[in-house]
Amino acid sequence: MKKIKLKIPATVANMVCGFDILGMAIHEPYDEMEITLLETPEIIIKHKDQFKLPEEPSKNVAGIVLLKIQEHLNLTQGFEVVIHKHIKPGSGLGSSAASAAGAALGASILLGNIFSKDEIIHFAMFGEELASGVRHADNIAPCIYGGITLVKSTNPIDIIPLNAPDLFVAAVHPQVEVKTSDSRQILKKNISLKSAIEQWGNIAGLVAGIQKNDFPLIGRSLNDVIIEPIRSILIPKFDEIKMTSLQLGALGGGISGSGPSIFMLAEEKETAEKIAFQMKSVYDEINIESFVYVSKINPGGIEIIEESKQH
Ligand code: HSE
Repeated sequence: MKKIKLKIPATVANMVCGFDILGMAIHEPYDEMEITLLETPEIIIKHKDQFKLPEEPSKNVAGIVLLKIQEHLNLTQGFEVVIHKHIKPGSGLGSSAASAAGAALGASILLGNIFSKDEIIHFAMFGEELASGVRHADNIAPCIYGGITLVKSTNPIDIIPLNAPDLFVAAVHPQVEVKTSDSRQILKKNISLKSAIEQWGNIAGLVAGIQKNDFPLIGRSLNDVIIEPIRSILIPKFDEIKMTSLQLGALGGGISGSGPSIFMLAEEKETAEKIAFQMKSVYDEINIESFVYVSKINPGGIEIIEESKQH
């Protein structure tokens, strides 16, 4: 019996100005997933966590990915998946992407490394579509490639892996619910040319800064004139957290994915820890429970923890 155990990292999509096109993998939190290749065609999903996610394959993010792979290959084999999620669904830290990317990568390895990275991303996007209604790859791509990725296009899939600068990420997840579908719904469908030009400058500056390890340029470019002003109203204390983080030495940051998590980049671990402490204190003061994470940018993405070819 072939079996694989994966450690799948959280991801920060958008990276402030790069809505739907930029994303980075971090180390904490992460999900654990164990996939076994079955000789019979069924797909079995089991969760070992408290999130009560649906286990029916067609309604489960990992399940739908495996169904699509099975259908594409006319497979007579199936999969049993045991998922232990630590990335809370709806956190804005790429929880659905972790399940989708883990399932697609795991299946590919179990079947003999049959898919390219981009094919894995193609299948994983079915999971994102189920979760949020949109086939976006800005969380999946960094999970698969590691580091920071640019999704130049999803149709055709054209992913550009970028540098993974030696920076620390402080992230806070306040326990308030923000659904990706809702936080996409409220966005304006049209933007002015003036805003578009500003945003293009920021995205190009951010990509250049990442590639050149130019931290001040990264900081100056972490600026979003289109999405953040609208979405931030869904996140309590967003402005205060951002302002204080910058005062404490953050290079910059903003909403992680569609929120409610907020992330900040910092050059030093100590600075990131101070920022994380401050983020938590702000939510403690208003009695909102929150979880904070400090980690480096994760250059490797999904990690294989165990692989057994025979049982
Ligand atoms: N780019 C997506 C969004 C990420 O911001 O809606 C969702 O996780």
